Amino acid sequence: MSSHLSDVWFSVTPLQVASGTGCWVTTTDGVEYLDFAGGIAVNSTGHSHPKVAAAIAEQATRFIHAQVNVYKHDLLEPLATKLAEITPNGIEKFFFANSGAEITEASVKLAKQATKRPHVIVFSGSFHGRTHMAMAMTTSKTGYRAGHSPLPSGVFMAPYPDPLAEDQDAEVACALKGLDHLLKSMTAPDETAAMILEPVLGEGGYVPAPAAFIHGLVERCRAHGILFIADEVQSGFGRTGKMFAVEHYGIEPDIICMAKGIASGFPFAALGTTD
Ligand SMILES: Cc1ncc(COP(=O)(O)O)c(C=O)c1O
Repeated sequence: MSSHLSDVWFSVTPLQVASGTGCWVTTTDGVEYLDFAGGIAVNSTGHSHPKVAAAIAEQATRFIHAQVNVYKHDLLEPLATKLAEITPNGIEKFFFANSGAEITEASVKLAKQATKRPHVIVFSGSFHGRTHMAMAMTTSKTGYRAGHSPLPSGVFMAPYPDPLAEDQDAEVACALKGLDHLLKSMTAPDETAAMILEPVLGEGGYVPAPAAFIHGLVERCRAHGILFIADEVQSGFGRTGKMFAVEHYGIEPDIICMAKGIASGFPFAALGTTD
């Protein structure tokens, strides 16, 4: 019988897994594999960490869903307080959702609301998710967009420095020149709500942003009242040696997008922003 399961997702291994513990997974025929993928950069405390499993089990006996428009409860406030402690300076307010794509979309909605401006700038090689707006903001490969046009408008792409260029100073200068040109030719500063950047390009090749590039970009945001959104869905929660990748650069984003490692595989995401 043919499978009733959609074949939308490809699989990079043929492994049929039965369970996972820590950084190991066990296949249905009993073979153990060291899991270098960690889900998809998601299982930050490993597979089925006993504390995580116990917390889920306990919570399931109290409430599985307690809709925030209907009730008040004691779950989100302590989480927001904890996030305020670990996120970069200035990030004080939190909004929660289920996935990274919802949060990158929410970040753009917030930036448009706050600035009353219609456009956003993304950078070549970006990956911000698979929903329509997130696809429009994704430029790492055509496969993520192909067959889904027309995608939402108002998204403009600026160059990201090539990490393999021999003269990195010249490469950064050239990328910033491209950004300035975009602000002159396609989206004027007073039409630009935000620039959204992965401080370390994820799907686009695992490339940390050169410091001079990220500083140049933030400088332009500050000069023009454009919000700087850090998409830390993949780079956040300790994956670069600091809690968030922006901490390596000494910069303070206006909005930070979090998902993946925030909940070690449980579908959860957060947007953090200034008051
Ligand atoms: C940088 C970045 N942003 C957003 C997303 C989308 O997150 P999700 O798959 O949870 O929707 C991803 C997922 O890989 C990502 O790497």
